[in-house]
Amino acid sequence: MEYNLGILISGNGSNMLNIIEATKKKLIKSKVATVISNNPMALGIKRASEKGVDVKIINQNQYSNIFDFENSLSNYLLKKKVDLICLAGFMKVLSKDFVKKWNNKIINIHPSLLPAFKGLNTHERAIRKKVKFSGCTVHFVNKNIDSGKIIDQELVRVLKSDDAGSLQKKILMKEHKLYIRVLKYLETKNE
Ligand code: GRF
Repeated sequence: MEYNLGILISGNGSNMLNIIEATKKKLIKSKVATVISNNPMALGIKRASEKGVDVKIINQNQYSNIFDFENSLSNYLLKKKVDLICLAGFMKVLSKDFVKKWNNKIINIHPSLLPAFKGLNTHERAIRKKVKFSGCTVHFVNKNIDSGKIIDQELVRVLKSDDAGSLQKKILMKEHKLYIRVLKYLETKNE
């Protein structure tokens, strides 16, 4: 199975760039149909444009309600024939209607070993809890935050010397590896 990926970002876009690189190097069969940012200031916008992929800003602040914002999002994804939505640092919670519409077609990467540390500030909380391991998870998106079916995870050892910043760096490196592994898996699973 070769997907037409729609990558949704809000910030730096390192996972997004990594997926674009993987398509260019043919590590995965899928193609990036579009990169969409809900944040007009996201660094990832420039980074994606430099790679020559389609980039679209759909700024939620320009819509009076989530319904109109998501309608615009859906229409653009349909226009680009996207059949798998990859959330990669997308900081807006999608409504249950949107998730239903794109049922089993949205995956997300989260920087913890779910179900531990759902939501924000995962690394700070992991350090505070003195966990010995953390990591990252790619999961299907359902109507509850960071709660959909887990597809795969990567583990990171948390050292006594780690702080939230160092942990974040280590986990981000694993995220890049994990996202590509998951895309490969989904491509072969749905062949
Ligand atoms: C990653 O840590 C991801 O797990 C989380 O947001 C961060 C995005 O990083 N959801 P980047 O924009 O891909 O560099």
